[in-house]
Amino acid sequence: MTCHARSCRYPRSATEATRLLAELGDQALVLAGGTTAALSRDPRITTLLDITRMGHDTIEATAGEVSIGCNARIQDLVEHPAVLTLWKGMLGEAAGGVGSLPIRNAVRVGGNAVALFRWSDPPVAYLAMGALFDVVGATGERTLRAEEFFERHPRQVLGQDELLIRVRIPVPQGACGGAFVKLARTAFDLAVVDAAVTVRMEGERCLDARVVVGATRSLPWRAKEAEEMRRGQKLEPRLIQRAARAARAATQTAGDVRTSAELRKRWVEVGVGRALQRAHQAARLGPGSALPVLAERPGGELAAGLPRDPGGSDGAWIGLQAQVNGQPVCFRAGPGEELLRVLRREGLSSVKRGCQQGDCGACTVLVDGRAQRACLLLAAQVQGRSITTVEALGSPEKPHPLQAAFVEHGAIQCGFCTPGMLLAAEALLCQNPAPSADQVRGALDGNLCRCTGYKKIVEAVMDAAERMRT
Ligand SMILES: Cc1cc2nc3c(=O)[nH]c(=O)nc-3n(C[C@H](O)[C@H](O)[C@H](O)COP(=O)(O)OP(=O)(O)OC[C@H]3O[C@@H](n4cnc5c(N)ncnc54)[C@H](O)[C@@H]3O)c2cc1C
Ligand code: FES
Ligand code: FES
Repeated sequence: MTCHARSCRYPRSATEATRLLAELGDQALVLAGGTTAALSRDPRITTLLDITRMGHDTIEATAGEVSIGCNARIQDLVEHPAVLTLWKGMLGEAAGGVGSLPIRNAVRVGGNAVALFRWSDPPVAYLAMGALFDVVGATGERTLRAEEFFERHPRQVLGQDELLIRVRIPVPQGACGGAFVKLARTAFDLAVVDAAVTVRMEGERCLDARVVVGATRSLPWRAKEAEEMRRGQKLEPRLIQRAARAARAATQTAGDVRTSAELRKRWVEVGVGRALQRAHQAARLGPGSALPVLAERPGGELAAGLPRDPGGSDGAWIGLQAQVNGQPVCFRAGPGEELLRVLRREGLSSVKRGCQQGDCGACTVLVDGRAQRACLLLAAQVQGRSITTVEALGSPEKPHPLQAAFVEHGAIQCGFCTPGMLLAAEALLCQNPAPSADQVRGALDGNLCRCTGYKKIVEAVMDAAERMRT
C-alpha cells in the first residue's frame, strides 16, 4: 500500500474538483500523473482526487499565445507542432529532458509545475518564456505571472482549494530566439544544471533577454546580472562569456550526491554560455519548422458509478473496471495500491517488480497504448482505461514478431527486463512502423537490461519492424 487513502473521486470538471478540494481540505490528495503523489504516505489523506477526467488536457494555439491544459502530458509538449515552434522549440527541449518516454507519458504539465523539484526542467523554460499560470479555486479564477508562480514553492502559492488549470505562453513577436540546455550525468538522469535563455533582437543588438537557471536551488531563478549585461548590446562571443560568468558568480548552491557545489557552479557557466549562444543563433534564423506529430492515442472511457466494496481486508477496497489485454474486467484494489501490485495479484506476473521508483522499466505496461510504469501508477488511476501486458502480445505457439526476433537475435538472457522491453518496443512500432536505430534506442532508453546489453535488443526491434512491414 503506498498511501492511506480510502476512496478515489473522479471529478468531471474543474468546478467539481475545486468544490471537492474545498470540502475535503488536507484530506484530499490530487492525482495528475500520480508519479509523485502515488508515493505519498501522509496519514491525513483519506481521498484521492484523480483530476485527469476533468478535461484540460489539450494544447491550443492562437496567433497570440499557446495555451496548455494542466492535464496535457509532458510527452505532448515534445510532440505538439505549436510547442515545437514556440521560442524555437525550447519548451519541447525542456520537456524532452523529463525522464524516459514512459515517465513523460505519465507526468502531466500541471503535476510537473506544482510538484516542482529542484531539478524539474519545464518550469525553467516557463520562467524564461514569461508564461502565465491560470489558477481556479472554489471562489474564482486568477492568473499568475511565472515570477509569481515560482516566487515560493507553487504548493505554497496555491490555496488549499486551488488548481492550476492551464499554462499560457505568449507567442513572441519579431526576431526572437530561445534555447534550453540540460546538463546531467547521463541523458536519463536528473539535471545537475538547467539553463533557459530567451532573447529579442533588433539587428545585431539585443533588446531584451531572460536568463534562467534551474537545479541549483529549490526554485528556478533569473540571473539578472547576466540579463542586464546584454541589454542594448551586440551579442558577441566575449559578451556571452562574460554573461555566463556573471550567472556563475550569482549562483548559490550546495553539493549533493550528483556533484559538488563548485562543479555545479562551473556547469552553470557552461550551461548558460551554451544556451545564450544557441538562443542568439536561433534569433537569427527564421521561424523553425515543426516536427511531425505522432498518432493520437485512443481515449479510455470512464465506467461511471462503480460501487465501493467495503469488505476488503483494509476496509476500503474500491471496485474498478478496465480493459485488460482486450478483455473488460472488474477488479478490487485499495485506493492507494499501485497498479504493479494489483496486476501481479491478478496473475499477470510478466509485470516485473524492479526498482519500484520509475527507473528500470521492468514494470512497463501499455495504458491506452502508451508505455507507462505500473510501479508509479495507482490502480485507481486506470479506472476505465485499457491496459496491455506482455501476456497479450503473443503465445509460445504464436509469438509476436517482436518476441520471435528477440529469441532469434539472442536479445534475452535472464529475461527479467524482456516484458518491459517488448511493450516499450510495441508502443513505438504502433506509432512509428519504420523507426531508425536511434529512435529505437530513444524509445527503450528507460528500460534497463543488466545482462544482455542493448545491441542485440535494438537489432531485434529493427528486424521485427521490418518483418511487420512486409
Ligand atoms: C524516474 C523519474 C524521473 C523523473 N525525471 C524528471 C526529470 O528529469 N525532470 C522533470 O522535470 N521531472 C522528472 N520527473 C517527474 C517529477 O519528478 C514528478 O514526478 C512529476 O513532475 C509529477 O507530475 P505528475 O503529473 O505525476 O503529478 P502527481 O504526482 O499526480 O502530483 C504531484 C503533486 O502536484 C499536485 N497537482 C497535480 N496537478 C495539479 C494541478 N493541476 N493543480 C494543482 N495541484 C496539482 C498534486 O496534489 C500532487 O501533490 C521524473 C519522475 C520519475 C518518476
Ligand atoms: S520502473 Fe517500475 S519497477 Fe522499475
Ligand atoms: S535479459 Fe536480464 S536484465 Fe535484460
